Amino acid sequence: MSACILDGKALAARIEVALQEEVRLFSNTLMRSPRLAVILVGAVAASHSYVKAKSSAAKRVGIDSRVIELPTEVTTAELIRLIESLGDSTQQIPFDGILVQLPLPAHVDTRAVLDAVPPKKDVDGFHPENAGLLFQGRPQLVPCTALGVQKMILDAGIPTAGRRAVVIGRSDIVGKPLAMLLASRGLGGDSTVTLLHSRSPNLSAFTLQADILIAAVGVPGLVTADMVQPGAAVIDVGINRVDSQLVGDVDFISVREVAGWISPVPGGVGPMTVAMLMSNTLQAARLQSGI
Ligand code: GUN
Repeated sequence: MSACILDGKALAARIEVALQEEVRLFSNTLMRSPRLAVILVGAVAASHSYVKAKSSAAKRVGIDSRVIELPTEVTTAELIRLIESLGDSTQQIPFDGILVQLPLPAHVDTRAVLDAVPPKKDVDGFHPENAGLLFQGRPQLVPCTALGVQKMILDAGIPTAGRRAVVIGRSDIVGKPLAMLLASRGLGGDSTVTLLHSRSPNLSAFTLQADILIAAVGVPGLVTADMVQPGAAVIDVGINRVDSQLVGDVDFISVREVAGWISPVPGGVGPMTVAMLMSNTLQAARLQSGI
């Protein structure tokens, strides 16, 4: 039997429709739209296409987004100064959210740049304050991809409480925050979580036990059918370019015959990340305006 497809594109479109109305109400109350600044450094093709998708979504939901493009040679100090000026809440029309598209060039101190984003404007949820609040079970702004995966699980009615969730990949952007969300108390949480990474031996010993299996490592086709428990929910966060094709970390063709649910690449987690960025931008605008 073939797995149910977790259609992230369709879910993201439904979320956007709901956000349009919330943004309209916010804008009517505050007499201005939520505002998002996106900083894009250099000429990484994938980053340009992600930023384009973010700008288009902002336009659709009524968020005023600006892209600030900088050359590869920009310094850490220049980026920090820019973030400080964008984050200045005394501006006549302040930015509610600031996003620095990653990766930054190797000479830039990425941590120092991300730390300069004011926590309440940190729509990516990468600032240590937001990471700490998530860790403590009182989330403020949560990384978009992790939040998007949890929303997909909830929307599909996949049970999480008391279930075994295995996350492959320990990045600060996806793996770690997602493990925290799934282990947190309440709806979409209460799972028993195992976090696997590049030094974990014998992945199958763990993945075969998973009721929910999430692959977020950037290794094309890493998860094969023989690693999946029949009926499990398999969510693919990988976006890899192979021979100019986009492929995930899951071998979709074989795994769909074993899994109960599976997310495709493209059209799965990717659009959810963008929708969650819009949701976080509205959330950031509310945090700052107090409405
Ligand atoms: N690059 C890849 N994923 C992300 C993301 O979620 N946020 C940012 N800012 N950059 C990324």
